[in-house]
Amino acid sequence: MAIRVATIGSGLIARLAHVPGYQKAGAEVVATADIVEARAKKLGADFSIPDTYTDYHEMLKRDDIEAVSICVPNHLHKEITIAALEAGKHVLCEKPMAMTVAEAKEMAEAAKASGKILTIGFNNRFRGDVQRLKQFVDGGDLGNVYYARTGYVRRRGTPFGWFTVKEESGGGPVIDLGVHVIDMTRYLMGNPKPVSVMASTYQKFGHYHIQDNNAWCSSDVLDGLRSGDEFSVEDLAAAFIRFDNGATLVVEVSWASNIAQRDSTYSYLYGDKAGAQLSPLEIYGVKYDTLIDEKIAVKEKNGHEEEIKHFLHCIETGEKPIVSPEQGVEIQQILNAIYDSARLGRSVDIV
Ligand SMILES: NC(=O)c1ccc[n+]([C@@H]2O[C@H](COP(=O)([O-])OP(=O)(O)OC[C@H]3O[C@@H](n4cnc5c(N)ncnc54)[C@H](O)[C@@H]3O)[C@@H](O)[C@H]2O)c1
Repeated sequence: MAIRVATIGSGLIARLAHVPGYQKAGAEVVATADIVEARAKKLGADFSIPDTYTDYHEMLKRDDIEAVSICVPNHLHKEITIAALEAGKHVLCEKPMAMTVAEAKEMAEAAKASGKILTIGFNNRFRGDVQRLKQFVDGGDLGNVYYARTGYVRRRGTPFGWFTVKEESGGGPVIDLGVHVIDMTRYLMGNPKPVSVMASTYQKFGHYHIQDNNAWCSSDVLDGLRSGDEFSVEDLAAAFIRFDNGATLVVEVSWASNIAQRDSTYSYLYGDKAGAQLSPLEIYGVKYDTLIDEKIAVKEKNGHEEEIKHFLHCIETGEKPIVSPEQGVEIQQILNAIYDSARLGRSVDIV
């Protein structure tokens, strides 16, 4: 029988990734809850979801729902994830895990106590090129990966709405974009434990109007329920992250900056045997005293769809998801240390 699932939050990510992802994977999306009733109803109508709620607590009382996706603004992740786990549901919580490390740890504890799955929406791990590169790294083709650099940079692509309000989002592009590439690159490096972070953040653009800003936006702004001109976060950050195995990761993220790229992500891994680049996936090594550049064939895979397939597979089989709550906590430690370091103007240890 199909696994019965629901979403809490019926906004953009629920509409574009979770609901279609579940339906494509053969799960039955039986309900969606959103405090904006019309939004829940519209999602329900568009995707043939039979029931909609404005109070997620009511929805969580249903015994027939096995799993939920948490698709609400970041400041609500902890409260709603814990409520869902305590109601006996498996949980896929969107990124970032939480607002603070303490909140993330509480969520991980709640998952342990409930015996249910908690996983975090680090969908970039599930991309075809990332999974293929992971095989090469794990197979030893790169040797020891001792350094990496990654970025997710936009020229003008600020997602106005709750994303740009510190109390609701927890931060700017570090939280919104950095979370993806930091997790993806650390995953490829073998998930070493972070020990210290040195970072700077900048707020140079704030709110702006530009004709061709077609970036992600909160549903309340799209629906005209909110102006979207509040701005209390950074719009660029750079960080140097040190890990317990001696490896380092350099990160840059921007929602707005004067660069050529409109919207670009990259990751470079430096191994002592070979290096690798995403995307496209290429491997750089030496053979017979010659520099070799290898282009690796990759089957394109939609990270969101693969993440949801994996979540459902883990529910069915009892396997542990590749994104554990503990890894979510470690990523949260890095994100929060970036802000602490920027505020204090010095390196910050992660203990
Ligand atoms: N993995 C990704 O690539 C990706 C991309 C975009 C967003 N996200 C994450 O998804 C989450 C949602 O982002 P979005 O872009 O869909 O935002 P959104 O503003 O479009 O949707 C959020 C929805 O949550 C609803 N909501 C707020 N409080 C609620 C409550 N108490 N109960 C039920 N619903 C409530 C809002 O009314 C809104 O409809 C965020 O955590 C964001 O970081 C992830």
